[in-house]
Amino acid sequence: MPKNTLTITDNRTGKTYEIPIEHDTIRAMDLRQIKVADRDFGLMTYDPAYLNTAACKSTITYIDGDAGILRYRGYPIEQLAEQSTYLETAYLLYRGELPTRQQLDRWVTGVTHHTIPHEKIKNFMEGFRYDAHPMGIFVGTVAALSTFFPESKQVFDPEVRRITFYRGVAKTPTIAAFAHRYSIGMPYAYPDNELSYTGNFLSMMFKGTELRYKPNPVLERALDILFILHADHEQNCSTSAMRVVGSAQTDPFTAIAAAAAALYGPLHGGANEAVLRMLAEIGSKDKIPAYIKRVKAGEVKLMGFGHRVYKNYDPRARIIKRTADEVFEVTGKNPLLDIALELERIALEDDYFVTRKLYPNVDFYSGLIYQAMGFPTDMFPVLFAIPRVSGWLSQWEEMILDPEQKIARPRQVYLGEGERNYVPMEEREAVTATRS
Ligand code: SDX
Repeated sequence: MPKNTLTITDNRTGKTYEIPIEHDTIRAMDLRQIKVADRDFGLMTYDPAYLNTAACKSTITYIDGDAGILRYRGYPIEQLAEQSTYLETAYLLYRGELPTRQQLDRWVTGVTHHTIPHEKIKNFMEGFRYDAHPMGIFVGTVAALSTFFPESKQVFDPEVRRITFYRGVAKTPTIAAFAHRYSIGMPYAYPDNELSYTGNFLSMMFKGTELRYKPNPVLERALDILFILHADHEQNCSTSAMRVVGSAQTDPFTAIAAAAAALYGPLHGGANEAVLRMLAEIGSKDKIPAYIKRVKAGEVKLMGFGHRVYKNYDPRARIIKRTADEVFEVTGKNPLLDIALELERIALEDDYFVTRKLYPNVDFYSGLIYQAMGFPTDMFPVLFAIPRVSGWLSQWEEMILDPEQKIARPRQVYLGEGERNYVPMEEREAVTATRS
């Protein structure tokens, strides 16, 4: 029976080492025994951007990038998008099981009654410039929630973690909608607890002078599906930020702000906004070849394409594409859709993209739906952040409860100067700039 170990021979010393293999992985710390001299630190692994490093064990989300598989707690994303709701999915991510009817009712009621933020949030929000990007307002305001709920620092109190989960899921749509209303000079529309989670969000975003906003059920359901698709995605950049900041026992609201800050980047959750700007810049189908040329020359990226894990079609993009048709039935087709479809067709036939296994990801089509629903482009990263809060908090709680986890503190490979003595000013000569 083959042993589940790796035999390593250090050719510097001729010594061999047996390293246990568990879950197709070796512990990096098991390499530290490999030394030349006893006083050596021992071997490390060097892995910029963590391309091949597992930072945790998790039971929340499973992705098979080659097969294009995504499952939350074992349930395929296609089935959840088809049969579940975002709030039920958030419960599943956090608790690990689908709720009973009674559990779901209690969970939905709890979230519904936590949607209103402290009135002081408005004063805080009004400190931003009138044209502040709503994601900048979102990041700052979510961090400020830690000052309204200082007890959230008690990260080892299960009751505090539970109420924080309610507050995080419930208050972030309100903060997002308030940020939008502030940036367009509209009065805030307060939560309507008679509406569903996404219906209420649409109301807070788009309510005019009517007494009560009536969400279009097709758009309400489409947004719910989009929120399901965006809820979690294992150890992506923003979730890793949540775990790293949370590992210092920082309160979860401040950690969510750090995660949202990471998501804001155009290579991550900011890509949905960048896709729309790219499609608008291309402007028409006949300009696509020229843009593809610029991509191949490395001048620009094809935003919404490529993924660190998916080397096949992102299963979420497939579902979003189907959802787009239902939305456009109601809103009218987004004129940029034809450019997006033609861009995808060309890219999927082009060797540059095929050899690099670049396929549309979750961000390629989502922005087209958001724009058709009336959301301004700069709100798109915020629309990504809202549902991801349930994933971030689920991953954070898993980290807090994991006995193997401690404060994150990676090592480095030092290639700088050796020891040297301080040089008095009069003895210094201009050193030709060797470093930028
Ligand atoms: C999300 O991690 C997650 O799970 C994230 C996410 C989630 O749910 O949390 O799925 C959400 O962030 C989706 C990704 C959204 N970002 C974009 O659409 C931005 C455009 N995509 C790229 O920036 C890129 O594909 C990344 C950042 C998504 C992935 O980058 P990798 O894995 O580091 O890949 P790479 O940069 O090493 O690229 C490999 C090759 C390179 O070419 P060569 O140097 O080999 O010649 O592919 C090229 C890259 O230049 N490439 C692209 C490209 N993406 C990769 N070329 C043109 N356009 C692109 N979009």
